[in-house]
Amino acid sequence: MLYIGIDLGTSAVKLLLMDGEGKILNIVSREYPLSFPHPGWSEQDPAHWLRETVAGVRELMKGFDAGHVAGIGCGGQMHGLVALDENDNVLRPAILWNDGRTAEEVEYLNHVIGKQTLSKYTANIAFAGFTAPKLLWMRKHEPELFARISKIMLPKDYVNYMLTGVHCTDASDASGMLLFDVEHRRWSREMLELCGLREDQMARVFESYQPVGTLRPEMAKELGLPETVKVCAGAGDNAAAAVGTGTVGEGACNISLGTSGTIFIASERFGVDPNNALHAFAHADGNYHLMGCMLSAASCNKWWMDDIIGTTDYAAQQKPITDEKLGRNHVFFLPYLMGERSPINDTDARGCFVGLTMDNTRADMTQAVLEGVAFGIRDCLEVARSLGIDVKRSRICGGGAKSPLWRKIIANVCDLELELIESEEGPGYGGAILAAVACGEYASVGSAAEKLVKVVGTVEPDPAVAARYEEQYKKFRGVYPALKELFPVLNG
Ligand code: XUL
Repeated sequence: MLYIGIDLGTSAVKLLLMDGEGKILNIVSREYPLSFPHPGWSEQDPAHWLRETVAGVRELMKGFDAGHVAGIGCGGQMHGLVALDENDNVLRPAILWNDGRTAEEVEYLNHVIGKQTLSKYTANIAFAGFTAPKLLWMRKHEPELFARISKIMLPKDYVNYMLTGVHCTDASDASGMLLFDVEHRRWSREMLELCGLREDQMARVFESYQPVGTLRPEMAKELGLPETVKVCAGAGDNAAAAVGTGTVGEGACNISLGTSGTIFIASERFGVDPNNALHAFAHADGNYHLMGCMLSAASCNKWWMDDIIGTTDYAAQQKPITDEKLGRNHVFFLPYLMGERSPINDTDARGCFVGLTMDNTRADMTQAVLEGVAFGIRDCLEVARSLGIDVKRSRICGGGAKSPLWRKIIANVCDLELELIESEEGPGYGGAILAAVACGEYASVGSAAEKLVKVVGTVEPDPAVAARYEEQYKKFRGVYPALKELFPVLNG
């Protein structure tokens, strides 16, 4: 049988077709626009997700027998607020995971309601991109629309709803709403009440690998697929990427270098970082994980290359950055182009280059961008290490992971052995694996991932380079605290 994995990302939807043995038969990608209607805001039209997903499935299936497709699974950008009215029409553009408009609501939740209370109810505290602060923002700034909300959905759940007609979500994605009792995998009555919401406005919660339904007849026709195709609940993109990289089981780690940058540590037990700097979320295999999330990772490099330097040849720009330059750059870059989530939780933080001198070249600045993101990942890793979690190796995926130089920098900055897997298509591959489990091809997510995910190489840290980066990291750690008070002033 065949399975379609969907990665509903921030800049594009990527779809892949996988056979029952885990072989990827085809991949397509279709972009959609992202809008920044005010500085720090980030929105998208859910209609674009659906349109490009439908067109993507049709393109994906060209030359393949649609009759063999058994299941679809989606890994989607997390936290986005999709508000539906009583006829299931979208009430306003979706407010995305990297939107920073809710500073006031976050302040209220974390300091008036209190972090301890939030953590007790949800295992997490408020971050600007989470869904609950966005609902509070909507209640205050768009009260007429807020009053008309009949269903609250996350991005991939909206697509799944359009495919099946079922208002569903899964435990991993629901975890990022700050409305979900992560430990018990159910909606938090206390949080719903606190946000002025009713349980009937929330979607039904499934495990990621459970089927939620089959294709609606009109959708099956549009997609060119049989009505019998099962759609599984799917997962937040990070949990899906973890499945797609085989990051299951106690202590398994994955770093994702996509638009966001995340470090994901799987756990068989529920556990919370006492300072809540790392998110405590449900995993797509039925267990849990801790995760640090940087709001801008590969997007920093994309911004630097596309918008500032004006090139699409990233490799050419990275070529002058030879091994002897690693750990010896005196230019530092703060990767906070959209503010930052983990671990500093600061919507006012901004990107900057520090330490430039006349002798610096464009390559030094390119290197600083790659290093700044690696230091940001290390910041999250340090939180995990401070909790006694001993991470020695990690898998890596996402667009940024295609750069051998960036992988080397990350391995040395974090002093981690990086395992490279056959495909970087983390969330899409994870989505297809979840679909295969939902269709009964595999008994569990763990056994499917173990069988299907293949490690094809490793990047070992070099002790001398890692030692140099240790010193560099100490310097990097001083930059943000020195500028922290200045950012709100600069932002006016
Ligand atoms: C995770 C997060 C991002 C998005 C990106 O908490 O906000 O990784 O899921 O799609």
